[in-house]
Amino acid sequence: MDETPKYGSSSLFRDTTKLTPDEAQDLVRRLELRAKVDDEVTARAEYLSLLEIGPGQRVLDIGCGSGVIARDVARRVQPNGRVVGIDPSPALIAAARELTTATDVETSITFREGDCRALPLVVRQGKRSIFDSADLCGRLVDEGDCIG
Ligand SMILES: C[S@@+](CC[C@H](N)C(=O)[O-])C[C@H]1O[C@@H](n2cnc3c(N)ncnc32)[C@H](O)[C@@H]1O
Repeated sequence: MDETPKYGSSSLFRDTTKLTPDEAQDLVRRLELRAKVDDEVTARAEYLSLLEIGPGQRVLDIGCGSGVIARDVARRVQPNGRVVGIDPSPALIAAARELTTATDVETSITFREGDCRALPLVVRQGKRSIFDSADLCGRLVDEGDCIG
């Protein structure tokens, strides 16, 4: 019998839809801390530069968690760009909204509950894309498959 654990089966982010308030708070703390680590800041800056994210763009942040990447992206797309962050976790979306309230990017970001496997968002309308870029930072996993 193969006893190798399935990739992602022990991920803290395997199912974030039913987090208790304490679990949500713990994940938010981890995500916010990780995002401030020097190596992370450098890698993210390079990644976002490679994506050529800049002023005026509309960016979809898939699996936005606490919204820390979305806030970073929003600073790049200002003054008139927009970021939409989606995550299946109601608790993480609530935290992302709270952490973004009263910041310099509050009016540039919308957070919505959503699963990337069933995006409720129109990504293409006629010849014009709704988003210039879609990013997925960190790792997304579900019970059967690994996404990203
Ligand atoms: C490792 S966290 C990364 C959060 C954020 N991108 C960051 O780097 O700080 C992975 C996130 O993906 C979300 N996620 C998991 N499955 C998802 C799915 N099917 N669609 C969209 N987001 C998902 C989780 O709720 C979690 O917030």
